[in-house]
Amino acid sequence: MFLGLDLGTSGVKATLIDGDQKIIGSASAALDVSRPHPGWSEQIPADWCRAAEEAIQGLKQAHPQALGAVRGIGLSGQMHGATLVDESDKVLRPSILWNDTRSFRQAAALDSDPQFRALTGNIVFPGFTAPKLGWVRENEPEIFAKVRWVLLPKDYLRLWLTGEHISEMSDSAGTSWLDTGKRKWSESLLAATHLEERQMPDLVEGTESAGTLRPELASRWGMGPGVVVAGGAGDNAASACGMGTVGEGQAFVSLGTSGVLFAANASYLPNPESAVHAFCHALPNTWHQMGVILSATDALNWHSGVTGRSAAELTGELGDTLKAPGPVTFLPYLSGERTPHNDAAIRGAFAGLGHESSRATLTQAVLEGVSFAIRDSLEALRAAGTTLNRVTAIGGGSRSRYWLKSIATALDLPVDLPADGDFGAAFGAARLGLIAATGADPVATCFAPATAETIEPDASLVAAYEDAYQRYRRLYPAIKEATM
Ligand code: XUL
Repeated sequence: MFLGLDLGTSGVKATLIDGDQKIIGSASAALDVSRPHPGWSEQIPADWCRAAEEAIQGLKQAHPQALGAVRGIGLSGQMHGATLVDESDKVLRPSILWNDTRSFRQAAALDSDPQFRALTGNIVFPGFTAPKLGWVRENEPEIFAKVRWVLLPKDYLRLWLTGEHISEMSDSAGTSWLDTGKRKWSESLLAATHLEERQMPDLVEGTESAGTLRPELASRWGMGPGVVVAGGAGDNAASACGMGTVGEGQAFVSLGTSGVLFAANASYLPNPESAVHAFCHALPNTWHQMGVILSATDALNWHSGVTGRSAAELTGELGDTLKAPGPVTFLPYLSGERTPHNDAAIRGAFAGLGHESSRATLTQAVLEGVSFAIRDSLEALRAAGTTLNRVTAIGGGSRSRYWLKSIATALDLPVDLPADGDFGAAFGAARLGLIAATGADPVATCFAPATAETIEPDASLVAAYEDAYQRYRRLYPAIKEATM
Protein backbone atom coordinates (compact mmCIF):
# COMPACT_ATOMS: atom_id res chain seq x y z
CA MET A 1 0.00 0.00 0.00
CA PHE A 2 1.07 3.56 -0.71
CA LEU A 3 -0.26 6.82 0.64
CA GLY A 4 -0.44 10.18 -1.16
CA LEU A 5 -0.89 13.35 0.87
CA ASP A 6 -1.83 16.53 -0.95
CA LEU A 7 -1.61 19.72 1.09
CA GLY A 8 -3.91 22.02 -0.90
CA THR A 9 -4.99 25.56 -0.08
CA SER A 10 -8.50 24.53 0.93
CA GLY A 11 -7.65 21.22 2.57
CA VAL A 12 -5.46 18.16 2.93
CA LYS A 13 -6.39 15.06 0.97
CA ALA A 14 -5.04 11.58 1.70
CA THR A 15 -5.34 8.84 -0.93
CA LEU A 16 -4.43 5.21 -0.38
CA ILE A 17 -3.51 2.98 -3.34
CA ASP A 18 -2.41 -0.64 -3.58
CA GLY A 19 0.58 -2.02 -5.50
CA ASP A 20 -1.56 -2.18 -8.68
CA GLN A 21 -2.44 1.49 -8.22
CA LYS A 22 -6.06 0.72 -7.37
CA ILE A 23 -7.52 3.43 -5.13
CA ILE A 24 -8.45 1.89 -1.79
CA GLY A 25 -9.85 5.08 -0.30
CA SER A 26 -9.49 8.82 0.18
CA ALA A 27 -10.21 11.18 3.05
CA SER A 28 -9.90 14.94 3.43
CA ALA A 29 -9.85 17.65 6.06
CA ALA A 30 -10.53 21.33 5.41
CA LEU A 31 -8.20 24.31 5.81
CA ASP A 32 -8.99 28.03 5.98
CA VAL A 33 -7.00 30.87 4.51
CA SER A 34 -6.49 33.99 6.57
CA ARG A 35 -6.45 37.31 4.68
CA PRO A 36 -5.60 39.86 7.39
CA HIS A 37 -4.85 42.64 4.86
CA PRO A 38 -5.69 43.13 1.16
CA GLY A 39 -3.31 41.01 -0.92
CA TRP A 40 -2.24 38.86 2.07
CA SER A 41 -2.89 35.12 2.24
CA GLU A 42 -1.60 33.05 5.14
CA GLN A 43 -2.00 29.72 6.92
CA ILE A 44 -0.69 28.38 10.21
CA PRO A 45 1.60 25.38 9.52
CA ALA A 46 0.33 23.53 12.62
CA ASP A 47 -3.09 23.48 10.90
CA TRP A 48 -1.55 21.56 7.99
CA CYS A 49 -0.36 18.83 10.38
CA ARG A 50 -3.73 18.81 12.15
CA ALA A 51 -5.55 18.45 8.80
CA ALA A 52 -3.13 15.73 7.62
CA GLU A 53 -3.69 13.86 10.90
CA GLU A 54 -7.47 14.20 10.50
CA ALA A 55 -7.39 12.94 6.88
CA ILE A 56 -5.16 9.99 7.82
CA GLN A 57 -7.39 9.15 10.80
CA GLY A 58 -10.33 9.18 8.35
CA LEU A 59 -8.52 6.58 6.25
CA LYS A 60 -7.60 4.61 9.34
CA GLN A 61 -11.22 4.36 10.40
CA ALA A 62 -12.38 3.21 6.98
CA HIS A 63 -9.39 1.00 6.04
CA PRO A 64 -7.33 0.17 9.16
CA GLN A 65 -5.61 -2.87 7.69
CA ALA A 66 -4.76 -1.29 4.36
CA LEU A 67 -3.34 1.79 6.10
CA GLY A 68 -1.25 -0.48 8.31
CA ALA A 69 0.31 -2.01 5.19
CA VAL A 70 1.64 1.31 3.84
CA ARG A 71 5.27 1.08 2.67
CA GLY A 72 5.67 4.44 0.96
CA ILE A 73 4.22 7.93 1.33
CA GLY A 74 4.36 10.66 -1.32
CA LEU A 75 3.80 14.35 -0.64
CA SER A 76 2.23 17.01 -2.84
CA GLY A 77 1.60 20.59 -1.85
CA GLN A 78 0.51 24.06 -2.75
CA MET A 79 3.66 25.66 -4.12
CA HIS A 80 5.76 28.73 -3.24
CA GLY A 81 4.65 29.26 0.39
CA ALA A 82 7.34 30.64 2.70
CA THR A 83 7.39 28.63 5.91
CA LEU A 84 10.06 30.02 8.21
CA VAL A 85 11.52 27.82 10.89
CA ASP A 86 14.10 28.56 13.59
CA GLU A 87 17.01 26.52 14.93
CA SER A 88 14.72 24.29 16.99
CA ASP A 89 12.27 23.79 14.10
CA LYS A 90 9.80 26.24 15.65
CA VAL A 91 7.63 28.08 13.11
CA LEU A 92 8.40 31.80 13.22
CA ARG A 93 5.24 33.29 11.66
CA PRO A 94 2.22 32.16 9.62
CA SER A 95 3.24 30.76 6.25
CA ILE A 96 2.93 33.31 3.42
CA LEU A 97 1.09 31.49 0.62
CA TRP A 98 1.39 31.28 -3.17
CA ASN A 99 -1.48 33.72 -3.77
CA ASP A 100 -0.16 36.37 -1.36
CA THR A 101 0.96 39.40 -3.36
CA ARG A 102 2.28 41.69 -0.60
CA SER A 103 5.87 41.33 -1.84
CA PHE A 104 5.25 42.79 -5.30
CA ARG A 105 7.86 45.53 -4.79
CA GLN A 106 10.55 43.08 -3.64
CA ALA A 107 9.62 40.78 -6.57
CA ALA A 108 10.04 43.60 -9.10
CA ALA A 109 13.40 44.53 -7.58
CA LEU A 110 14.71 40.94 -7.79
CA ASP A 111 13.27 40.53 -11.28
CA SER A 112 15.22 43.56 -12.47
CA ASP A 113 18.44 41.71 -11.54
CA PRO A 114 19.05 39.72 -14.77
CA GLN A 115 20.59 36.71 -13.04
CA PHE A 116 17.18 35.68 -11.64
CA ARG A 117 15.51 35.13 -15.03
CA ALA A 118 18.77 33.75 -16.48
CA LEU A 119 19.23 31.06 -13.81
CA THR A 120 15.66 30.24 -12.77
CA GLY A 121 14.08 30.58 -16.24
CA ASN A 122 11.17 32.45 -14.67
CA ILE A 123 9.97 35.91 -13.82
CA VAL A 124 10.32 36.55 -10.10
CA PHE A 125 6.58 36.65 -9.37
CA PRO A 126 5.36 38.16 -6.08
CA GLY A 127 3.84 34.76 -5.24
CA PHE A 128 7.22 33.02 -5.41
CA THR A 129 9.22 32.41 -2.26
CA ALA A 130 12.31 34.62 -2.57
CA PRO A 131 10.52 38.02 -2.65
CA LYS A 132 8.52 36.98 0.42
CA LEU A 133 11.78 36.64 2.31
CA GLY A 134 12.66 40.14 1.09
CA TRP A 135 9.38 41.42 2.54
CA VAL A 136 10.05 39.69 5.87
CA ARG A 137 13.59 41.08 5.97
CA GLU A 138 12.29 44.63 5.45
CA ASN A 139 9.19 44.45 7.62
CA GLU A 140 9.94 41.83 10.28
CA PRO A 141 13.75 41.95 10.62
CA GLU A 142 13.69 40.22 14.02
CA ILE A 143 12.00 37.22 12.38
CA PHE A 144 14.32 37.25 9.38
CA ALA A 145 17.30 37.13 11.72
CA LYS A 146 16.01 33.90 13.27
CA VAL A 147 15.35 32.04 10.00
CA ARG A 148 17.29 28.78 10.10
CA TRP A 149 15.24 26.98 7.41
CA VAL A 150 13.00 28.16 4.60
CA LEU A 151 10.58 25.34 3.81
CA LEU A 152 7.83 24.93 1.23
CA PRO A 153 4.46 23.86 2.67
CA LYS A 154 4.69 20.13 1.86
CA ASP A 155 8.32 20.12 3.05
CA TYR A 156 7.12 21.39 6.42
CA LEU A 157 4.73 18.41 6.48
CA ARG A 158 7.76 16.23 5.72
CA LEU A 159 9.60 17.75 8.67
CA TRP A 160 6.66 16.74 10.85
CA LEU A 161 6.48 13.28 9.27
CA THR A 162 10.19 12.44 9.23
CA GLY A 163 12.21 15.07 11.10
CA GLU A 164 14.16 15.77 7.86
CA HIS A 165 14.77 19.11 6.12
CA ILE A 166 14.49 17.95 2.50
CA SER A 167 12.84 19.29 -0.64
CA GLU A 168 12.71 18.16 -4.26
CA MET A 169 13.15 19.79 -7.66
CA SER A 170 9.62 20.57 -8.87
CA ASP A 171 8.54 22.62 -5.85
CA SER A 172 11.97 24.18 -5.34
CA ALA A 173 11.86 25.48 -8.93
CA GLY A 174 9.12 27.85 -7.73
CA THR A 175 11.27 29.57 -5.12
CA SER A 176 13.40 31.81 -7.45
CA TRP A 177 16.51 30.30 -5.85
CA LEU A 178 16.89 27.17 -7.99
CA ASP A 179 19.14 26.92 -11.04
CA THR A 180 16.33 25.17 -12.92
CA GLY A 181 18.46 23.82 -15.79
CA LYS A 182 21.07 22.36 -13.41
CA ARG A 183 18.57 21.26 -10.74
CA LYS A 184 20.51 22.74 -7.82
CA TRP A 185 20.34 25.73 -5.47
CA SER A 186 22.04 28.85 -6.78
CA GLU A 187 24.34 30.38 -4.22
CA SER A 188 24.40 33.70 -6.04
CA LEU A 189 20.59 33.99 -6.11
CA LEU A 190 20.45 33.12 -2.42
CA ALA A 191 23.15 35.69 -1.69
CA ALA A 192 21.16 38.33 -3.59
CA THR A 193 18.37 37.81 -1.04
CA HIS A 194 20.70 37.75 2.00
CA LEU A 195 20.40 33.99 2.50
CA GLU A 196 22.79 31.05 2.39
CA GLU A 197 22.49 27.54 1.01
CA ARG A 198 22.63 26.10 4.54
CA GLN A 199 19.18 27.66 5.11
CA MET A 200 17.74 25.60 2.25
CA PRO A 201 16.69 21.96 2.57
CA ASP A 202 18.72 19.27 0.78
CA LEU A 203 17.40 18.40 -2.66
CA VAL A 204 16.29 15.03 -4.07
CA GLU A 205 14.26 14.09 -7.13
CA GLY A 206 10.53 13.65 -6.51
CA THR A 207 10.83 9.91 -7.11
CA GLU A 208 13.63 9.42 -4.57
CA SER A 209 13.38 8.62 -0.90
CA ALA A 210 13.52 11.66 1.41
CA GLY A 211 13.32 10.21 4.90
CA THR A 212 11.36 7.60 6.81
CA LEU A 213 8.23 8.05 8.87
CA ARG A 214 8.85 8.85 12.55
CA PRO A 215 8.16 5.76 14.72
CA GLU A 216 5.69 7.70 16.88
CA LEU A 217 3.47 8.51 13.87
CA ALA A 218 3.92 5.04 12.37
CA SER A 219 2.64 3.40 15.54
CA ARG A 220 -0.25 5.91 15.87
CA TRP A 221 -1.40 5.03 12.34
CA GLY A 222 -0.76 1.31 12.75
CA MET A 223 2.10 1.23 10.24
CA GLY A 224 5.28 -0.80 10.45
CA PRO A 225 8.84 0.53 10.68
CA GLY A 226 10.79 2.00 7.73
CA VAL A 227 7.92 3.63 5.79
CA VAL A 228 9.66 5.61 3.02
CA VAL A 229 8.62 9.22 2.41
CA ALA A 230 9.30 10.19 -1.23
CA GLY A 231 10.52 13.59 -2.37
CA GLY A 232 7.07 14.18 -3.85
CA ALA A 233 6.22 17.27 -5.87
CA GLY A 234 4.59 20.67 -6.04
CA ASP A 235 0.87 20.11 -6.53
CA ASN A 236 0.89 20.78 -10.26
CA ALA A 237 3.73 18.37 -10.98
CA ALA A 238 2.08 15.85 -8.63
CA SER A 239 -1.20 16.16 -10.56
CA ALA A 240 0.82 15.63 -13.75
CA CYS A 241 2.20 12.39 -12.28
CA GLY A 242 -1.36 11.34 -11.46
CA MET A 243 -2.58 12.20 -14.97
CA GLY A 244 0.38 10.63 -16.75
CA THR A 245 1.40 14.07 -18.07
CA VAL A 246 5.09 13.22 -18.08
CA GLY A 247 6.04 13.08 -21.79
CA GLU A 248 6.49 15.76 -24.45
CA GLY A 249 3.20 17.04 -25.91
CA GLN A 250 1.05 15.88 -22.98
CA ALA A 251 -0.91 18.61 -21.21
CA PHE A 252 -3.68 19.26 -18.72
CA VAL A 253 -5.81 22.15 -17.64
CA SER A 254 -6.50 22.26 -13.92
CA LEU A 255 -9.50 24.17 -12.60
CA GLY A 256 -8.71 24.44 -8.90
CA THR A 257 -8.45 27.50 -6.65
CA SER A 258 -5.87 28.61 -9.22
CA GLY A 259 -6.08 27.68 -12.89
CA VAL A 260 -3.16 25.97 -14.57
CA LEU A 261 -2.35 24.98 -18.12
CA PHE A 262 0.48 22.46 -17.74
CA ALA A 263 2.66 20.94 -20.48
CA ALA A 264 5.38 18.32 -19.94
CA ASN A 265 8.73 18.93 -21.68
CA ALA A 266 11.62 16.56 -22.36
CA SER A 267 14.04 19.46 -21.98
CA TYR A 268 14.30 22.75 -20.12
CA LEU A 269 12.40 25.37 -22.19
CA PRO A 270 12.30 28.70 -20.37
CA ASN A 271 10.60 31.79 -21.82
CA PRO A 272 10.08 34.24 -18.98
CA GLU A 273 9.08 37.02 -21.40
CA SER A 274 5.68 35.39 -21.92
CA ALA A 275 5.19 34.94 -18.15
CA VAL A 276 5.28 31.16 -18.60
CA HIS A 277 6.58 29.14 -15.66
CA ALA A 278 9.40 26.74 -16.61
CA PHE A 279 9.97 24.31 -13.73
CA CYS A 280 11.59 20.95 -13.08
CA HIS A 281 9.16 18.05 -13.25
CA ALA A 282 8.99 15.51 -10.42
CA LEU A 283 10.61 12.84 -12.63
CA PRO A 284 14.39 12.99 -13.08
CA ASN A 285 15.68 14.83 -16.15
CA THR A 286 12.22 16.13 -17.06
CA TRP A 287 10.87 19.67 -17.00
CA HIS A 288 7.51 21.32 -17.62
CA GLN A 289 5.97 24.62 -18.55
CA MET A 290 2.79 26.09 -17.19
CA GLY A 291 0.65 29.18 -17.37
CA VAL A 292 -0.90 30.04 -14.00
CA ILE A 293 -3.96 32.16 -13.34
CA LEU A 294 -4.54 33.04 -9.72
CA SER A 295 -8.35 32.79 -9.54
CA ALA A 296 -10.14 29.93 -11.30
CA THR A 297 -12.71 28.24 -9.05
CA ASP A 298 -11.81 31.04 -6.64
CA ALA A 299 -13.57 33.45 -9.06
CA LEU A 300 -16.73 31.31 -9.07
CA ASN A 301 -16.52 30.93 -5.28
CA TRP A 302 -16.29 34.69 -4.92
CA HIS A 303 -19.40 35.10 -7.12
CA SER A 304 -21.09 32.41 -5.04
CA GLY A 305 -20.27 34.29 -1.82
CA VAL A 306 -21.65 37.54 -3.20
CA THR A 307 -24.87 36.01 -4.56
CA GLY A 308 -25.42 33.60 -1.66
CA ARG A 309 -25.85 30.65 -4.09
CA SER A 310 -23.61 27.61 -4.20
CA ALA A 311 -21.26 27.22 -7.15
CA ALA A 312 -23.27 24.17 -8.26
CA GLU A 313 -26.54 26.15 -8.17
CA LEU A 314 -24.97 28.97 -10.17
CA THR A 315 -23.56 26.73 -12.90
CA GLY A 316 -26.79 24.68 -12.82
CA GLU A 317 -28.74 27.82 -13.80
CA LEU A 318 -26.79 27.92 -17.07
CA GLY A 319 -27.78 24.42 -18.17
CA ASP A 320 -25.44 22.26 -20.25
CA THR A 321 -25.78 23.96 -23.64
CA LEU A 322 -23.03 26.46 -24.36
CA LYS A 323 -24.24 29.96 -25.18
CA ALA A 324 -22.51 32.60 -27.28
CA PRO A 325 -20.73 35.11 -25.06
CA GLY A 326 -23.00 38.08 -24.30
CA PRO A 327 -22.01 41.71 -23.84
CA VAL A 328 -20.79 41.20 -20.25
CA THR A 329 -17.07 40.46 -19.80
CA PHE A 330 -15.45 39.42 -16.53
CA LEU A 331 -11.77 39.82 -15.73
CA PRO A 332 -10.89 37.24 -13.03
CA TYR A 333 -8.01 39.18 -11.49
CA LEU A 334 -9.30 39.02 -7.90
CA SER A 335 -5.76 38.52 -6.52
CA GLY A 336 -3.90 40.15 -9.41
CA GLU A 337 -2.59 37.91 -12.19
CA ARG A 338 0.51 35.90 -13.11
CA THR A 339 0.31 34.63 -16.70
CA PRO A 340 0.36 36.66 -18.89
CA HIS A 341 0.43 39.99 -17.05
CA ASN A 342 2.63 39.51 -13.98
CA ASP A 343 0.56 42.19 -12.26
CA ALA A 344 -0.08 41.93 -8.53
CA ALA A 345 -1.96 45.22 -8.37
CA ILE A 346 -4.60 44.68 -11.08
CA ARG A 347 -8.07 43.73 -9.86
CA GLY A 348 -11.04 42.08 -11.53
CA ALA A 349 -13.95 43.75 -13.33
CA PHE A 350 -17.34 43.19 -14.89
CA ALA A 351 -17.73 45.28 -18.04
CA GLY A 352 -20.83 45.70 -20.20
CA LEU A 353 -23.54 45.35 -17.52
CA GLY A 354 -27.12 46.32 -18.45
CA HIS A 355 -30.55 46.25 -16.77
CA GLU A 356 -31.08 42.90 -18.44
CA SER A 357 -27.96 41.37 -16.83
CA SER A 358 -29.15 38.61 -14.51
CA ARG A 359 -27.34 36.44 -12.01
CA ALA A 360 -27.00 33.83 -14.78
CA THR A 361 -25.47 36.45 -17.09
CA LEU A 362 -22.83 37.15 -14.46
CA THR A 363 -22.16 33.44 -13.89
CA GLN A 364 -21.72 32.93 -17.62
CA ALA A 365 -19.32 35.89 -17.75
CA VAL A 366 -17.32 34.52 -14.77
CA LEU A 367 -16.90 31.10 -16.42
CA GLU A 368 -15.99 32.72 -19.76
CA GLY A 369 -13.54 35.10 -18.09
CA VAL A 370 -11.66 32.15 -16.56
CA SER A 371 -11.75 30.34 -19.94
CA PHE A 372 -10.23 33.40 -21.61
CA ALA A 373 -7.57 33.64 -18.91
CA ILE A 374 -6.65 29.99 -19.68
CA ARG A 375 -6.57 30.92 -23.39
CA ASP A 376 -4.05 33.64 -22.46
CA SER A 377 -1.92 30.86 -20.91
CA LEU A 378 -2.24 28.78 -24.09
CA GLU A 379 -0.95 31.73 -26.12
CA ALA A 380 1.92 32.14 -23.64
CA LEU A 381 2.86 28.44 -23.95
CA ARG A 382 2.71 28.74 -27.74
CA ALA A 383 5.06 31.71 -27.57
CA ALA A 384 7.39 29.50 -25.51
CA GLY A 385 7.54 26.95 -28.33
CA THR A 386 4.95 24.42 -27.12
CA THR A 387 2.29 23.00 -29.44
CA LEU A 388 -0.75 21.40 -27.86
CA ASN A 389 -3.29 19.33 -29.80
CA ARG A 390 -5.53 18.46 -26.88
CA VAL A 391 -5.68 18.87 -23.10
CA THR A 392 -7.09 16.79 -20.24
CA ALA A 393 -9.24 18.57 -17.65
CA ILE A 394 -8.88 18.05 -13.90
CA GLY A 395 -9.84 19.90 -10.72
CA GLY A 396 -13.12 20.79 -9.02
CA GLY A 397 -14.21 23.17 -11.80
CA SER A 398 -14.14 20.33 -14.34
CA ARG A 399 -17.37 19.04 -12.77
CA SER A 400 -19.19 21.79 -14.68
CA ARG A 401 -20.05 20.62 -18.21
CA TYR A 402 -20.74 24.18 -19.23
CA TRP A 403 -17.29 25.29 -18.12
CA LEU A 404 -15.58 22.42 -19.96
CA LYS A 405 -17.39 23.31 -23.19
CA SER A 406 -16.49 26.95 -22.68
CA ILE A 407 -12.81 26.06 -22.22
CA ALA A 408 -12.74 23.73 -25.23
CA THR A 409 -14.30 26.48 -27.36
CA ALA A 410 -12.08 29.28 -26.00
CA LEU A 411 -8.93 27.17 -26.60
CA ASP A 412 -10.36 25.63 -29.81
CA LEU A 413 -8.91 22.32 -28.59
CA PRO A 414 -10.55 19.04 -27.60
CA VAL A 415 -10.72 18.59 -23.82
CA ASP A 416 -10.43 15.00 -22.58
CA LEU A 417 -12.10 13.86 -19.39
CA PRO A 418 -10.36 10.97 -17.63
CA ALA A 419 -12.37 7.80 -17.04
CA ASP A 420 -14.00 7.54 -13.67
CA GLY A 421 -11.44 7.81 -10.96
CA ASP A 422 -9.41 10.27 -9.03
CA PHE A 423 -6.19 11.18 -10.78
CA GLY A 424 -5.34 14.36 -8.92
CA ALA A 425 -2.36 15.48 -6.89
CA ALA A 426 -2.90 13.04 -3.98
CA PHE A 427 -2.98 10.10 -6.40
CA GLY A 428 0.15 11.43 -8.17
CA ALA A 429 1.86 11.76 -4.80
CA ALA A 430 0.91 8.15 -3.94
CA ARG A 431 2.53 7.08 -7.23
CA LEU A 432 5.72 8.90 -6.21
CA GLY A 433 5.58 7.11 -2.85
CA LEU A 434 5.27 3.80 -4.71
CA ILE A 435 8.27 4.57 -6.96
CA ALA A 436 10.46 5.68 -4.04
CA ALA A 437 9.57 2.64 -1.92
CA THR A 438 9.78 -0.03 -4.64
CA GLY A 439 12.19 1.33 -7.26
CA ALA A 440 9.47 0.98 -9.96
CA ASP A 441 10.14 2.72 -13.27
CA PRO A 442 8.86 6.33 -13.01
CA VAL A 443 7.52 6.74 -16.56
CA ALA A 444 5.90 3.31 -16.65
CA THR A 445 4.28 3.98 -13.24
CA CYS A 446 2.91 7.39 -14.24
CA PHE A 447 0.72 6.21 -17.14
CA ALA A 448 -2.29 8.18 -18.37
CA PRO A 449 -5.81 7.10 -17.41
CA ALA A 450 -8.25 6.07 -20.13
CA THR A 451 -10.31 8.92 -21.57
CA ALA A 452 -13.99 8.62 -20.68
CA GLU A 453 -15.15 11.36 -22.97
CA THR A 454 -13.85 14.16 -25.15
CA ILE A 455 -15.49 17.57 -25.11
CA GLU A 456 -15.02 19.08 -28.57
CA PRO A 457 -15.02 22.84 -29.16
CA ASP A 458 -18.47 24.05 -30.29
CA ALA A 459 -17.65 24.86 -33.93
CA SER A 460 -20.69 27.14 -34.24
CA LEU A 461 -19.41 29.32 -31.37
CA VAL A 462 -15.64 29.36 -31.97
CA ALA A 463 -15.83 32.65 -33.91
CA ALA A 464 -18.06 34.34 -31.30
CA TYR A 465 -15.68 33.14 -28.57
CA GLU A 466 -12.72 34.53 -30.54
CA ASP A 467 -14.41 37.96 -30.77
CA ALA A 468 -15.21 37.90 -27.07
CA TYR A 469 -11.62 36.85 -26.29
CA GLN A 470 -10.29 39.82 -28.27
CA ARG A 471 -12.62 42.10 -26.27
CA TYR A 472 -11.35 40.50 -23.07
CA ARG A 473 -7.75 41.15 -24.20
CA ARG A 474 -8.49 44.84 -24.79
CA LEU A 475 -9.98 45.30 -21.34
CA TYR A 476 -6.84 44.61 -19.29
CA PRO A 477 -4.84 47.64 -20.49
CA ALA A 478 -7.95 49.83 -20.34
CA ILE A 479 -8.84 48.80 -16.77
CA LYS A 480 -5.22 49.12 -15.74
CA GLU A 481 -4.99 52.65 -17.07
CA ALA A 482 -8.32 53.67 -15.55
CA THR A 483 -7.69 52.24 -12.08
CA MET A 484 -3.96 52.60 -11.45
C1 XUL B 1 1.59 27.38 -9.15
C2 XUL B 1 0.76 27.98 -8.09
C3 XUL B 1 -0.52 27.31 -7.71
C4 XUL B 1 -0.38 26.62 -6.41
C5 XUL B 1 -1.76 26.16 -5.97
O1 XUL B 1 2.66 28.17 -9.52
O2 XUL B 1 1.06 28.97 -7.50
O3 XUL B 1 -0.99 26.45 -8.72
O4 XUL B 1 0.54 25.58 -6.51
O5 XUL B 1 -1.74 25.19 -5.04
